[in-house]
Amino acid sequence: MPTSELGLDKPLAALGISEAAQVTARFAEIRALFDSQSATVHDDSQWKTFRDTWLGRKSGVLAQITDNWLKPATPGLKRAVGASLNELRAHVESQIEARRLAIESGAEESALARERVDLSLPGVTRPIGSHHLIRQVFQQIEDIFVSIGFSVVEGPEIETPYYNFEALNIPEFHPVRDDMDTFYIDLPKGAPTPLLLRTHTSPMQIRTMEKQKPPVRVIVPGKVYRRDNPDATHSFAFHQVEGLAVDTDITFCDFTGTIEYFVKQFFGPGVNTRFRPSYFPFTEPSVEFDVSCIFCGGSGTAASGVTCAKCKGAGWIELFGAGMVDPAVYGFVNYDAKKVNGFAFGMGMDRLAMLKYGIDDIQVFFQNDVRFLRQFP
Ligand code: PHE
Repeated sequence: MPTSELGLDKPLAALGISEAAQVTARFAEIRALFDSQSATVHDDSQWKTFRDTWLGRKSGVLAQITDNWLKPATPGLKRAVGASLNELRAHVESQIEARRLAIESGAEESALARERVDLSLPGVTRPIGSHHLIRQVFQQIEDIFVSIGFSVVEGPEIETPYYNFEALNIPEFHPVRDDMDTFYIDLPKGAPTPLLLRTHTSPMQIRTMEKQKPPVRVIVPGKVYRRDNPDATHSFAFHQVEGLAVDTDITFCDFTGTIEYFVKQFFGPGVNTRFRPSYFPFTEPSVEFDVSCIFCGGSGTAASGVTCAKCKGAGWIELFGAGMVDPAVYGFVNYDAKKVNGFAFGMGMDRLAMLKYGIDDIQVFFQNDVRFLRQFP
């Protein structure tokens, strides 16, 4: 029965109700109606309509009973109507509040169910990267040199001819500039100085000595650039580590001892080293350091009996250029050439990595094929 059929808009007399027993019966019907409606209320918006139907200030069921039944009731019925109405009101109010609580906690439960984390589901695996092999090799080099008192500095990849050449005792038109196959940068007309991609890390010798007085002990890792055609051992960009030690009492023995220590730490105690005379404008004397061939153990013959392809039977592999710092260089950095001496070296990191890890093509360092990179986690 909808509430509209309860006769709420008419006074009791018009409904033919004149005795207390009839009043009680009518209120029992109303209460049953309320209870049946209450059972159908399941969400917030149903609950609001339900509440307004029964407790609405103007046209709610209880308001209409008060206005249309209680107020105009005959003195004989007023008491019975008042008592039943109070009873009904208490029931309606408490039930409506109980419904509200039930709906609220139900909503919480379903939200909880929705947000529950299922710990048994497989997780999202994020692949973890690793350092590039060149970076790993530099870290090994760094550890070795830092342990004997060197520190690490870095410098610009775009240089002026002054730092890349002149201050390293390579004047303009010096023939070694031809070997460097330099990349010059296109600059607007009137630029104060030409700029180039550094062809070696040696400019950092100058920049370091300009900034700091002896003693100097630094290594400089970095990219360098030359106009080489790419093949298994050449790339237009590659990596060097420069080394520089300058002090008042550095001898040729300190120099060779340091290099030998490094090579044995890096490749293992089994390798031998040797040096041969060479030429660089910024070192005097200059040497080329060789290491006994890692692949054939220095014999020049591979395990299969044929000539070792890596050292071409020589038993030695050329490692890097080095030498005692040419006194002329000190003149460019205001060091007193009579009081200081030192040594410098420049090694190709790519070459060191290729020898140590048996890699036969320098290009793999720049292609960044994950199948290669994954082999060096
Ligand atoms: N800068 C030289 C080169 O790139 C190597 C070198 C560095 C030689 C330091 C001597 C001293 O070939």
